[in-house]
Amino acid sequence: MANQYDRMEGIDDLSVEEFPSWAGKPVDHAWPWWPLLPLYPYGRRRTIVEELIPNQIWGFEQLQGLYYVAVPVRMTVVKVPEGLMLFNPLPPTPELRRAMKSLQKLHGPVVSIVLPTASGLEHKISLPSLARVFSKADIWICPGQWSFPISLPLGWLGIPSGRTKVLLQDGLPHQDSCDWISLGPLDIGLGRFQEVACFHKASRALLVTDALVGIQAEPPRLFDFDPTPLLFHARDVGDEPLEDSEAQRRKGWARLVLFASFLRPEKLNIPSISQVLRNAFKPGFRNAKAHFGLYPFEWKEGWENSAKEILGEKTPKIQFAPVLERLVFPRAKDTLFSWLEELNNLRNLRWLISAHFTAPLDFRPKEIRQLLKSTREREWAKNEGNWRFLGGVDKVLLRQKIVPKDPLKAFRD
Ligand SMILES: [Fe+2]
Repeated sequence: MANQYDRMEGIDDLSVEEFPSWAGKPVDHAWPWWPLLPLYPYGRRRTIVEELIPNQIWGFEQLQGLYYVAVPVRMTVVKVPEGLMLFNPLPPTPELRRAMKSLQKLHGPVVSIVLPTASGLEHKISLPSLARVFSKADIWICPGQWSFPISLPLGWLGIPSGRTKVLLQDGLPHQDSCDWISLGPLDIGLGRFQEVACFHKASRALLVTDALVGIQAEPPRLFDFDPTPLLFHARDVGDEPLEDSEAQRRKGWARLVLFASFLRPEKLNIPSISQVLRNAFKPGFRNAKAHFGLYPFEWKEGWENSAKEILGEKTPKIQFAPVLERLVFPRAKDTLFSWLEELNNLRNLRWLISAHFTAPLDFRPKEIRQLLKSTREREWAKNEGNWRFLGGVDKVLLRQKIVPKDPLKAFRD
């Protein structure tokens, strides 16, 4: 599918010489640094560009994931008085750079790049290369950046220290046009969780990273380039052919969202190795696309109902990302509540744009009140159903004293 910013008049072709080639030819969506974080689709990433709020905000989406559990990741481009702000970095493939070039011709240069999360690795990994492409932009990063297994200085991580500032500690960017609202910090043992949301007043949009998402039953457009990840998961056994239909795509998407949200959803069995191998390497499946027929999943009856917990049928369902809710906020519900109250006090808030899933989402006081009410009424830090696996992980981390009982204590002392 062509994207509209490729077709704009007067756009020069970007040089792709510095990028690697596939079979001797440079490609538009190559991403040479993928071995740093080997996520599907590895070195080949397509980008979809969408105007989310007319003349104000654009979304750039690429797929990222593990073993075909790939979900879209979004960089948000915001028009500010001085030019453009990039919020949540993405790998700057030639395709992305060309679309950015056309936006810059219309709206001015990239003046700032914001990494608003302390912990979201999939958002951090491309900051150094994006910073090199936009070499005059100021870099703003969330406080408490950490690397695993050892904490490295910013320069070692490829973040240019000469033009990098820390949000809140060194001030805030574009304060006339944006309000900044921090969620956290919370101590999560290995490092900290914090993300700083941005309310862009002109568009009335709130930009977040991972905390809030809106998920719908229809798969994202990015899968139109290659629906294989959806069709792969729509099957019941490894030797079932990958059949393409709208129903199969939706089925695969629902399962993929269950994986991404709960890591090991309630209605999933992991079959024995001998069972997996019995269905593998059959004629017609001896190729990488079909993962050689290896399919280590078995969905139990009723999985569709458990997907309804997180998928909105007609409109996207707005929710806290389940992994964060159960592993970061199980003992810090009040922190989430006060952040939501702060959002509720923003004047004229209209839209929510997250770094994952559907955007923009309706996000007015009515939707915030609904979210507050439903969160207040339901059981928090559950261990049953889809939450069982995440609950078990939390219990082990707590028992091993890897995560503290009180995630706020370190910041009170
Ligand atoms: Fe994320």
